[in-house]
Amino acid sequence: MADVDLIKSRLTAHPDFPKKGIVFLDIFPILRDPQVFEALISHVVHHITSHSVGLASNNKIDVIVGLDARGFLLGPIVALRLGAAFVPVRKKGKLPGQCIQASYEKEYGTDVFEMQADAIQSGQNVVVIDDLIATGGSAKAAGELVKNLGGNVLEYIFIIELLFLKASSKLDAPVYSIVQTD
Ligand code: ADE
Repeated sequence: MADVDLIKSRLTAHPDFPKKGIVFLDIFPILRDPQVFEALISHVVHHITSHSVGLASNNKIDVIVGLDARGFLLGPIVALRLGAAFVPVRKKGKLPGQCIQASYEKEYGTDVFEMQADAIQSGQNVVVIDDLIATGGSAKAAGELVKNLGGNVLEYIFIIELLFLKASSKLDAPVYSIVQTD
């Protein structure tokens, strides 16, 4: 089976979770099967090294930024394979040391993301990774944090993109997703 079909075949849909009206798409079955998890990581690494914007001119990816919490499952592995740094974006109050903040809209109210202030150096090339992009609010906030430290976001990468929410139009760098749903 081709990589994308294999990855897609392991996603499970959970209607009315965590609340009524939401169909929750679960990536954890991918991680249960090392062959499928490997296919996922290899797919992302291959995409970054052969297709990511900016890499055509031989730019190196310096930093993979992963979003709290499922971006932490993919980001560090991808970063290691690329010889890049991994930097977490976490919900407010979880990271020690001096942090910068960006707020984003959730379904009800706002939430605040933080990044350690010394985590990214000015001019570094960054790819932002998470499991799923819905409204794009959290990805946009992560992009703002990177830019505030002087980094360049080359691309946002997700396993799943909920196309009907049109999140990519909110972001100022290209979005790459492996599986798209309407
Ligand atoms: N985060 C936001 N919407 C989601 C969904 N439908 N499935 C999984 N994670 C989500």
